[in-house]
Amino acid sequence: MKLFIETLGCAMNSRDSEHMIAELTEKEGYEVVADFRDADLILINTCSVREKPVSKLFSELGVFNKRKKPDAKIGVCGCTASHLGEEIIKRAPYVNFVLGARNVSKISEIIHKDRAVEIDINYDESEFAFNDFRTSPYKAFINISIGCDKSCTYCIVPKTRGDEVSIPDGLIINEAKKAVDAGAKEVFLLGQNVNNYGRRFSGEHEKVNFSELLRRLSKIEGLERIRFTSPHPFHMDDEFIEEFAKNPKICKSMHMPLQSGSTKVLKDMKRGYTKEWFLNRVEKLRTECPEVSISTDIIVAFPGESDEDFLDSLDVMRQVRFNQIFSFKYSARPETEAEHFTNTVDEEVASHRLTALQTLHTEILDEINATSLGKIYRVYFEDLVQDFYVSGRSDDNIVIKVKGSDELLGEFRDVKITSIGRTILTGEVVA
Ligand code: SAH
Ligand code: SF4
Ligand code: F3S
Repeated sequence: MKLFIETLGCAMNSRDSEHMIAELTEKEGYEVVADFRDADLILINTCSVREKPVSKLFSELGVFNKRKKPDAKIGVCGCTASHLGEEIIKRAPYVNFVLGARNVSKISEIIHKDRAVEIDINYDESEFAFNDFRTSPYKAFINISIGCDKSCTYCIVPKTRGDEVSIPDGLIINEAKKAVDAGAKEVFLLGQNVNNYGRRFSGEHEKVNFSELLRRLSKIEGLERIRFTSPHPFHMDDEFIEEFAKNPKICKSMHMPLQSGSTKVLKDMKRGYTKEWFLNRVEKLRTECPEVSISTDIIVAFPGESDEDFLDSLDVMRQVRFNQIFSFKYSARPETEAEHFTNTVDEEVASHRLTALQTLHTEILDEINATSLGKIYRVYFEDLVQDFYVSGRSDDNIVIKVKGSDELLGEFRDVKITSIGRTILTGEVVA
Protein backbone atom coordinates (compact mmCIF):
# COMPACT_ATOMS: atom_id res chain seq x y z
CA MET A 1 0.00 0.00 0.00
CA LYS A 2 1.30 3.40 -0.95
CA LEU A 3 1.03 6.67 0.95
CA PHE A 4 1.32 10.22 -0.34
CA ILE A 5 1.44 13.02 2.20
CA GLU A 6 1.51 16.76 1.63
CA THR A 7 2.52 18.92 4.57
CA LEU A 8 1.64 22.60 4.94
CA GLY A 9 2.23 24.92 7.91
CA CYS A 10 4.82 24.96 10.62
CA ALA A 11 7.47 22.60 11.98
CA MET A 12 4.91 21.06 14.34
CA ASN A 13 2.90 19.95 11.35
CA SER A 14 6.04 18.51 9.76
CA ARG A 15 6.65 16.49 12.90
CA ASP A 16 2.99 15.37 12.95
CA SER A 17 3.46 14.16 9.38
CA GLU A 18 6.53 12.18 10.44
CA HIS A 19 4.47 10.66 13.25
CA MET A 20 1.68 9.68 10.83
CA ILE A 21 4.17 8.16 8.40
CA ALA A 22 5.74 6.21 11.28
CA GLU A 23 2.38 4.83 12.41
CA LEU A 24 1.25 3.92 8.90
CA THR A 25 4.51 2.29 7.80
CA GLU A 26 5.01 0.31 11.03
CA LYS A 27 1.44 -0.72 11.79
CA GLU A 28 -0.22 -0.75 8.38
CA GLY A 29 2.62 -1.61 6.01
CA TYR A 30 2.49 1.58 3.92
CA GLU A 31 5.40 2.97 1.94
CA VAL A 32 5.73 6.65 1.06
CA VAL A 33 5.56 7.73 -2.60
CA ALA A 34 6.32 11.09 -4.19
CA ASP A 35 3.40 11.22 -6.66
CA PHE A 36 -0.19 11.21 -5.38
CA ARG A 37 -1.36 9.42 -8.55
CA ASP A 38 0.50 6.27 -7.37
CA ALA A 39 -0.94 6.40 -3.86
CA ASP A 40 -3.64 4.26 -2.18
CA LEU A 41 -3.91 6.81 0.59
CA ILE A 42 -3.54 10.58 0.14
CA LEU A 43 -3.11 12.72 3.24
CA ILE A 44 -3.03 16.49 3.33
CA ASN A 45 -1.74 17.93 6.58
CA THR A 46 -3.22 21.42 6.62
CA CYS A 47 -2.51 24.81 8.21
CA SER A 48 -5.14 27.31 9.30
CA VAL A 49 -3.05 30.19 10.54
CA ARG A 50 -3.95 32.49 7.65
CA GLU A 51 -6.90 32.37 5.29
CA LYS A 52 -5.14 31.82 1.96
CA PRO A 53 -4.03 28.20 2.40
CA VAL A 54 -7.48 27.29 3.72
CA SER A 55 -9.23 28.62 0.63
CA LYS A 56 -6.77 26.72 -1.56
CA LEU A 57 -7.50 23.45 0.23
CA PHE A 58 -10.74 22.71 -1.59
CA SER A 59 -9.35 23.32 -5.06
CA GLU A 60 -6.42 21.09 -4.21
CA LEU A 61 -8.70 18.35 -2.89
CA GLY A 62 -10.61 18.57 -6.17
CA VAL A 63 -7.42 17.89 -8.13
CA PHE A 64 -6.53 14.95 -5.89
CA ASN A 65 -10.00 13.49 -6.34
CA LYS A 66 -9.96 13.83 -10.11
CA ARG A 67 -6.53 12.35 -10.76
CA LYS A 68 -6.07 9.80 -7.97
CA LYS A 69 -6.20 6.02 -8.41
CA PRO A 70 -9.89 5.01 -8.43
CA ASP A 71 -9.87 3.33 -5.00
CA ALA A 72 -7.44 5.68 -3.29
CA LYS A 73 -8.66 7.23 -0.05
CA ILE A 74 -8.23 10.90 0.86
CA GLY A 75 -7.74 12.12 4.44
CA VAL A 76 -7.60 15.74 5.59
CA CYS A 77 -5.45 16.19 8.71
CA GLY A 78 -3.96 19.05 10.71
CA CYS A 79 -5.18 22.45 11.86
CA THR A 80 -7.83 23.06 9.19
CA ALA A 81 -9.20 19.60 9.93
CA SER A 82 -9.52 20.65 13.59
CA HIS A 83 -11.32 23.87 12.81
CA LEU A 84 -13.57 22.90 9.89
CA GLY A 85 -14.22 19.27 10.87
CA GLU A 86 -17.45 17.88 9.42
CA GLU A 87 -17.75 20.83 7.01
CA ILE A 88 -14.84 19.46 4.98
CA ILE A 89 -16.83 16.31 4.18
CA LYS A 90 -19.92 18.39 3.44
CA ARG A 91 -18.02 20.52 0.94
CA ALA A 92 -15.92 17.66 -0.47
CA PRO A 93 -17.98 14.46 0.03
CA TYR A 94 -15.29 12.27 -1.53
CA VAL A 95 -13.00 12.95 1.47
CA ASN A 96 -12.83 9.69 3.48
CA PHE A 97 -11.86 11.08 6.86
CA VAL A 98 -10.90 14.20 8.79
CA LEU A 99 -8.27 13.99 11.54
CA GLY A 100 -7.46 16.98 13.76
CA ALA A 101 -4.02 18.29 14.73
CA ARG A 102 -4.41 16.89 18.21
CA ASN A 103 -5.57 13.42 17.14
CA VAL A 104 -2.54 12.33 15.14
CA SER A 105 -2.12 9.13 17.17
CA LYS A 106 -5.46 7.87 15.82
CA ILE A 107 -4.25 7.78 12.22
CA SER A 108 -3.94 4.00 11.93
CA GLU A 109 -7.52 3.54 13.22
CA ILE A 110 -9.20 6.26 11.21
CA ILE A 111 -7.96 5.07 7.81
CA HIS A 112 -10.23 2.01 8.23
CA LYS A 113 -13.34 4.08 8.91
CA ASP A 114 -15.48 5.86 6.38
CA ARG A 115 -16.47 9.54 6.65
CA ALA A 116 -15.03 9.62 10.17
CA VAL A 117 -14.26 12.93 11.86
CA GLU A 118 -11.88 12.95 14.87
CA ILE A 119 -11.16 16.50 15.96
CA ASP A 120 -11.22 16.49 19.75
CA ILE A 121 -8.88 19.32 20.83
CA ASN A 122 -8.95 18.09 24.43
CA TYR A 123 -7.56 14.70 23.46
CA ASP A 124 -4.29 14.17 25.31
CA GLU A 125 -1.55 12.61 23.25
CA SER A 126 1.30 14.08 25.30
CA GLU A 127 2.45 10.61 26.38
CA PHE A 128 1.66 8.64 23.24
CA ALA A 129 4.59 6.52 22.08
CA PHE A 130 4.73 7.05 18.33
CA ASN A 131 6.72 4.74 16.10
CA ASP A 132 9.95 6.10 14.63
CA PHE A 133 10.26 7.95 11.36
CA ARG A 134 12.48 10.90 10.53
CA THR A 135 12.82 12.64 7.19
CA SER A 136 16.42 13.55 7.97
CA PRO A 137 18.84 11.23 9.76
CA TYR A 138 21.03 14.22 10.67
CA LYS A 139 18.57 16.35 12.60
CA ALA A 140 15.73 15.23 14.86
CA PHE A 141 12.58 17.27 15.40
CA ILE A 142 11.15 16.50 18.84
CA ASN A 143 7.88 17.81 20.28
CA ILE A 144 8.22 19.03 23.85
CA SER A 145 4.65 20.22 24.31
CA ILE A 146 1.31 20.12 22.56
CA GLY A 147 -1.26 22.92 22.26
CA CYS A 148 -1.00 26.55 23.36
CA ASP A 149 -2.23 28.28 26.50
CA LYS A 150 -2.02 31.86 25.21
CA SER A 151 -4.91 33.80 23.80
CA CYS A 152 -3.31 36.09 21.23
CA THR A 153 -6.38 37.74 19.75
CA TYR A 154 -5.43 37.12 16.10
CA CYS A 155 -4.46 33.48 16.42
CA ILE A 156 -6.43 30.34 15.66
CA VAL A 157 -3.84 27.87 16.96
CA PRO A 158 -5.30 27.42 20.48
CA LYS A 159 -8.57 26.46 18.76
CA THR A 160 -6.91 23.89 16.53
CA ARG A 161 -4.38 22.43 18.96
CA GLY A 162 -6.09 22.92 22.32
CA ASP A 163 -4.60 23.63 25.74
CA GLU A 164 -0.91 23.41 26.38
CA VAL A 165 0.42 20.18 27.89
CA SER A 166 4.13 19.47 28.32
CA ILE A 167 5.56 16.10 27.34
CA PRO A 168 7.40 14.42 30.25
CA ASP A 169 11.13 15.16 30.07
CA GLY A 170 12.03 11.45 30.30
CA LEU A 171 10.21 10.78 27.01
CA ILE A 172 11.92 13.75 25.34
CA ILE A 173 15.36 12.67 26.52
CA ASN A 174 14.79 9.08 25.37
CA GLU A 175 13.71 10.31 21.97
CA ALA A 176 16.79 12.50 21.70
CA LYS A 177 19.05 9.61 22.72
CA LYS A 178 17.48 7.32 20.15
CA ALA A 179 17.94 9.96 17.44
CA VAL A 180 21.59 10.42 18.42
CA ASP A 181 22.15 6.64 18.37
CA ALA A 182 20.70 6.66 14.86
CA GLY A 183 23.22 9.30 13.74
CA ALA A 184 21.67 12.71 14.48
CA LYS A 185 23.96 15.31 16.03
CA GLU A 186 21.30 17.99 16.30
CA VAL A 187 17.88 18.10 17.92
CA PHE A 188 15.24 20.71 17.21
CA LEU A 189 12.73 21.07 20.04
CA LEU A 190 9.21 22.07 19.04
CA GLY A 191 6.30 23.72 20.80
CA GLN A 192 4.16 26.85 20.44
CA ASN A 193 5.66 28.26 23.62
CA VAL A 194 8.79 26.26 24.36
CA ASN A 195 10.02 28.45 27.20
CA ASN A 196 6.75 27.91 29.03
CA TYR A 197 7.73 24.22 29.21
CA GLY A 198 6.80 22.45 32.43
CA ARG A 199 3.82 24.57 33.38
CA ARG A 200 1.45 21.63 33.12
CA PHE A 201 1.96 17.91 32.55
CA SER A 202 -0.88 15.51 32.03
CA GLY A 203 0.08 13.35 35.04
CA GLU A 204 2.16 13.81 38.20
CA HIS A 205 5.58 15.17 37.28
CA GLU A 206 8.48 16.79 39.09
CA LYS A 207 8.95 20.51 38.41
CA VAL A 208 11.14 20.88 35.33
CA ASN A 209 11.23 24.17 33.46
CA PHE A 210 12.64 24.82 30.00
CA SER A 211 16.10 25.83 31.25
CA GLU A 212 16.30 22.59 33.23
CA LEU A 213 15.13 20.56 30.23
CA LEU A 214 17.92 22.15 28.17
CA ARG A 215 20.48 21.30 30.86
CA ARG A 216 19.30 17.69 30.96
CA LEU A 217 19.31 17.31 27.19
CA SER A 218 22.75 18.79 26.85
CA LYS A 219 24.19 15.95 28.94
CA ILE A 220 23.46 13.48 26.14
CA GLU A 221 26.75 12.27 24.74
CA GLY A 222 27.07 12.62 20.98
CA LEU A 223 24.43 15.34 20.85
CA GLU A 224 26.23 18.45 19.68
CA ARG A 225 23.56 20.99 18.84
CA ILE A 226 20.22 21.95 20.33
CA ARG A 227 17.78 24.29 18.61
CA PHE A 228 14.20 25.14 19.49
CA THR A 229 11.16 27.08 18.30
CA SER A 230 9.12 29.07 19.28
CA PRO A 231 10.07 30.75 22.50
CA HIS A 232 7.73 33.53 23.66
CA PRO A 233 9.21 36.95 24.55
CA PHE A 234 6.94 37.10 27.61
CA HIS A 235 8.68 34.05 29.13
CA MET A 236 12.25 35.17 28.37
CA ASP A 237 13.37 35.50 31.96
CA ASP A 238 17.00 35.95 33.00
CA GLU A 239 17.46 32.27 33.89
CA PHE A 240 16.44 31.24 30.38
CA ILE A 241 18.64 33.82 28.64
CA GLU A 242 21.63 32.96 30.82
CA GLU A 243 21.23 29.21 30.19
CA PHE A 244 20.92 29.95 26.46
CA ALA A 245 24.11 32.01 26.51
CA LYS A 246 26.34 29.75 28.58
CA ASN A 247 25.31 26.28 27.41
CA PRO A 248 27.70 25.48 24.54
CA LYS A 249 25.35 22.93 22.99
CA ILE A 250 22.57 25.46 22.45
CA CYS A 251 22.83 27.06 19.02
CA LYS A 252 23.17 30.79 19.22
CA SER A 253 20.14 31.70 17.21
CA MET A 254 17.01 32.92 18.95
CA HIS A 255 13.55 33.34 17.46
CA MET A 256 11.85 36.28 19.17
CA PRO A 257 8.38 36.71 17.67
CA LEU A 258 7.71 40.43 18.00
CA GLN A 259 4.36 40.58 16.13
CA SER A 260 4.23 44.37 16.54
CA GLY A 261 6.57 47.09 17.81
CA SER A 262 3.69 49.16 19.18
CA THR A 263 2.79 48.67 22.83
CA LYS A 264 -0.79 49.62 22.04
CA VAL A 265 -1.11 46.99 19.30
CA LEU A 266 0.65 44.40 21.47
CA LYS A 267 -1.98 45.06 24.11
CA ASP A 268 -4.79 44.62 21.58
CA MET A 269 -3.10 41.40 20.47
CA LYS A 270 -2.87 40.27 24.13
CA ARG A 271 0.79 39.42 23.75
CA GLY A 272 1.59 40.18 27.39
CA TYR A 273 4.66 42.39 26.79
CA THR A 274 5.48 45.94 25.73
CA LYS A 275 7.86 47.40 23.17
CA GLU A 276 10.21 48.27 26.05
CA TRP A 277 10.16 44.74 27.50
CA PHE A 278 10.98 43.29 24.09
CA LEU A 279 13.91 45.69 23.59
CA ASN A 280 15.08 45.04 27.15
CA ARG A 281 15.13 41.28 26.49
CA VAL A 282 17.09 41.79 23.27
CA GLU A 283 19.60 43.90 25.18
CA LYS A 284 19.96 41.28 27.91
CA LEU A 285 20.38 38.56 25.27
CA ARG A 286 23.02 40.52 23.34
CA THR A 287 24.88 41.37 26.56
CA GLU A 288 25.00 37.72 27.63
CA CYS A 289 25.58 36.39 24.13
CA PRO A 290 27.00 38.96 21.69
CA GLU A 291 27.25 36.47 18.83
CA VAL A 292 23.52 35.60 18.87
CA SER A 293 21.46 35.95 15.69
CA ILE A 294 17.82 36.92 16.16
CA SER A 295 14.85 36.13 13.95
CA THR A 296 11.27 37.29 14.33
CA ASP A 297 7.66 37.17 13.14
CA ILE A 298 5.84 40.44 12.44
CA ILE A 299 2.20 41.03 11.54
CA VAL A 300 1.30 44.27 9.75
CA ALA A 301 -2.09 45.96 9.63
CA PHE A 302 -3.59 44.36 12.71
CA PRO A 303 -6.98 46.06 13.34
CA GLY A 304 -6.42 49.54 14.75
CA GLU A 305 -2.74 49.72 13.71
CA SER A 306 -2.14 53.42 12.92
CA ASP A 307 0.74 54.83 10.88
CA GLU A 308 2.40 55.66 14.16
CA ASP A 309 2.00 52.12 15.47
CA PHE A 310 3.51 50.78 12.29
CA LEU A 311 6.48 53.16 12.68
CA ASP A 312 7.07 51.49 16.04
CA SER A 313 7.48 48.15 14.25
CA LEU A 314 10.01 49.76 11.89
CA ASP A 315 11.73 51.33 14.87
CA VAL A 316 12.18 47.96 16.60
CA MET A 317 13.46 46.54 13.31
CA ARG A 318 16.09 49.31 13.12
CA GLN A 319 17.12 48.90 16.73
CA VAL A 320 17.31 45.11 16.80
CA ARG A 321 18.49 44.50 13.22
CA PHE A 322 16.93 41.03 12.99
CA ASN A 323 18.88 38.46 11.00
CA GLN A 324 15.68 37.01 9.60
CA ILE A 325 12.03 38.06 9.58
CA PHE A 326 8.82 36.26 8.71
CA SER A 327 6.28 38.97 7.95
CA PHE A 328 2.58 38.66 7.31
CA LYS A 329 -0.42 40.80 6.56
CA TYR A 330 -3.00 40.34 9.28
CA SER A 331 -5.59 37.75 8.25
CA ALA A 332 -8.87 37.57 10.17
CA ARG A 333 -9.43 34.05 11.49
CA PRO A 334 -12.62 32.38 12.65
CA GLU A 335 -13.08 31.74 16.37
CA THR A 336 -10.56 34.45 17.34
CA GLU A 337 -11.24 37.61 19.30
CA ALA A 338 -9.83 39.93 16.66
CA GLU A 339 -12.22 38.53 14.06
CA HIS A 340 -14.83 40.82 15.63
CA PHE A 341 -12.65 43.95 15.70
CA THR A 342 -14.21 46.49 13.37
CA ASN A 343 -11.32 48.96 13.07
CA THR A 344 -9.71 47.04 10.21
CA VAL A 345 -6.90 48.48 8.12
CA ASP A 346 -7.35 49.13 4.41
CA GLU A 347 -5.96 46.39 2.16
CA GLU A 348 -3.88 48.90 0.20
CA VAL A 349 -2.35 50.34 3.37
CA ALA A 350 -1.60 46.80 4.55
CA SER A 351 0.24 46.01 1.30
CA HIS A 352 2.28 49.21 1.55
CA ARG A 353 3.27 48.44 5.12
CA LEU A 354 4.31 44.90 4.27
CA THR A 355 6.47 46.16 1.41
CA ALA A 356 8.02 48.90 3.57
CA LEU A 357 8.84 46.39 6.31
CA GLN A 358 10.35 43.91 3.91
CA THR A 359 12.35 46.58 2.08
CA LEU A 360 13.84 47.81 5.34
CA HIS A 361 14.71 44.27 6.31
CA THR A 362 16.41 43.58 2.99
CA GLU A 363 18.62 46.64 3.54
CA ILE A 364 19.52 45.46 7.03
CA LEU A 365 20.19 41.94 5.83
CA ASP A 366 22.46 43.12 3.00
CA GLU A 367 24.50 45.08 5.53
CA ILE A 368 24.71 42.10 7.89
CA ASN A 369 25.62 39.69 5.10
CA ALA A 370 28.33 41.98 3.71
CA THR A 371 30.24 41.51 6.95
CA SER A 372 30.21 37.70 6.44
CA LEU A 373 32.55 37.68 3.45
CA GLY A 374 35.83 35.98 4.40
CA LYS A 375 34.48 34.88 7.80
CA ILE A 376 34.82 31.28 8.96
CA TYR A 377 31.75 29.40 10.24
CA ARG A 378 31.40 25.93 11.75
CA VAL A 379 28.78 24.28 9.51
CA TYR A 380 26.76 21.12 10.12
CA PHE A 381 25.89 19.70 6.70
CA GLU A 382 22.40 18.28 6.15
CA ASP A 383 21.25 18.48 2.52
CA LEU A 384 22.43 17.82 -1.01
CA VAL A 385 21.54 20.78 -3.23
CA GLN A 386 21.71 21.46 -6.96
CA ASP A 387 24.92 21.41 -8.99
CA PHE A 388 26.96 19.23 -6.62
CA TYR A 389 26.66 21.44 -3.57
CA VAL A 390 26.00 20.41 0.03
CA SER A 391 24.27 22.78 2.41
CA GLY A 392 24.09 23.13 6.15
CA ARG A 393 23.76 25.69 8.90
CA SER A 394 26.13 27.63 11.06
CA ASP A 395 25.58 27.67 14.80
CA ASP A 396 23.78 31.01 14.36
CA ASN A 397 21.51 29.53 11.71
CA ILE A 398 22.96 30.92 8.46
CA VAL A 399 22.42 28.57 5.51
CA ILE A 400 25.78 27.92 3.84
CA LYS A 401 26.67 25.73 0.85
CA VAL A 402 29.95 24.34 -0.41
CA LYS A 403 30.91 22.14 -3.37
CA GLY A 404 30.76 18.54 -2.22
CA SER A 405 28.71 15.39 -1.91
CA ASP A 406 27.41 12.71 0.47
CA GLU A 407 30.58 12.40 2.48
CA LEU A 408 29.91 15.80 4.08
CA LEU A 409 26.37 14.95 5.21
CA GLY A 410 26.08 14.70 8.99
CA GLU A 411 29.56 16.21 9.38
CA PHE A 412 30.89 19.47 10.86
CA ARG A 413 33.41 21.54 8.90
CA ASP A 414 34.92 25.02 9.10
CA VAL A 415 33.84 26.98 6.05
CA LYS A 416 35.21 30.28 4.74
CA ILE A 417 32.61 32.44 3.00
CA THR A 418 33.51 33.29 -0.59
CA SER A 419 30.26 34.75 -1.92
CA ILE A 420 27.07 36.22 -0.53
CA GLY A 421 23.44 35.67 -1.48
CA ARG A 422 20.31 36.82 0.36
CA THR A 423 19.14 33.42 1.52
CA ILE A 424 22.31 31.36 1.23
CA LEU A 425 26.04 32.03 1.52
CA THR A 426 28.62 30.09 -0.46
CA GLY A 427 31.99 29.05 0.89
CA GLU A 428 34.83 26.57 0.85
CA VAL A 429 35.82 24.02 3.46
CA VAL A 430 38.99 25.07 5.23
CA ALA A 431 39.13 22.49 8.03
N1 SAH B 1 3.48 30.25 18.79
C1 SAH B 1 4.16 31.07 17.88
C2 SAH B 1 3.42 31.36 16.61
C3 SAH B 1 2.80 30.35 15.78
S1 SAH B 1 1.92 30.94 14.39
C4 SAH B 1 4.41 32.42 18.52
O1 SAH B 1 3.70 32.84 19.40
O2 SAH B 1 5.31 33.06 18.06
C5 SAH B 1 3.23 31.59 13.41
C6 SAH B 1 3.12 33.03 13.07
O3 SAH B 1 2.02 33.26 12.24
C7 SAH B 1 2.88 33.96 14.24
O4 SAH B 1 4.06 34.27 14.92
C8 SAH B 1 2.27 35.17 13.59
O5 SAH B 1 3.24 36.10 13.19
C9 SAH B 1 1.60 34.60 12.37
N2 SAH B 1 0.13 34.65 12.50
C10 SAH B 1 -0.63 33.99 13.39
N3 SAH B 1 -1.93 34.31 13.23
C11 SAH B 1 -1.99 35.20 12.20
C12 SAH B 1 -3.04 35.93 11.59
N4 SAH B 1 -4.29 35.79 11.99
N5 SAH B 1 -2.72 36.76 10.56
C13 SAH B 1 -1.45 36.91 10.16
N6 SAH B 1 -0.41 36.25 10.71
C14 SAH B 1 -0.66 35.41 11.73
FE1 SF4 C 1 -0.87 31.70 18.57
FE2 SF4 C 1 -0.08 33.30 20.49
FE3 SF4 C 1 -0.19 30.66 20.92
FE4 SF4 C 1 1.68 31.67 19.34
S1 SF4 C 1 1.47 32.08 21.52
S2 SF4 C 1 0.39 29.88 18.92
S3 SF4 C 1 0.64 33.36 18.34
S4 SF4 C 1 -1.92 32.03 20.54
FE1 F3S D 1 1.21 25.29 12.63
FE2 F3S D 1 -0.48 26.33 10.91
FE3 F3S D 1 -1.37 24.81 12.84
S1 F3S D 1 1.26 27.35 11.75
S2 F3S D 1 0.04 25.14 14.50
S3 F3S D 1 0.00 24.18 11.18
S4 F3S D 1 -2.36 26.63 12.06
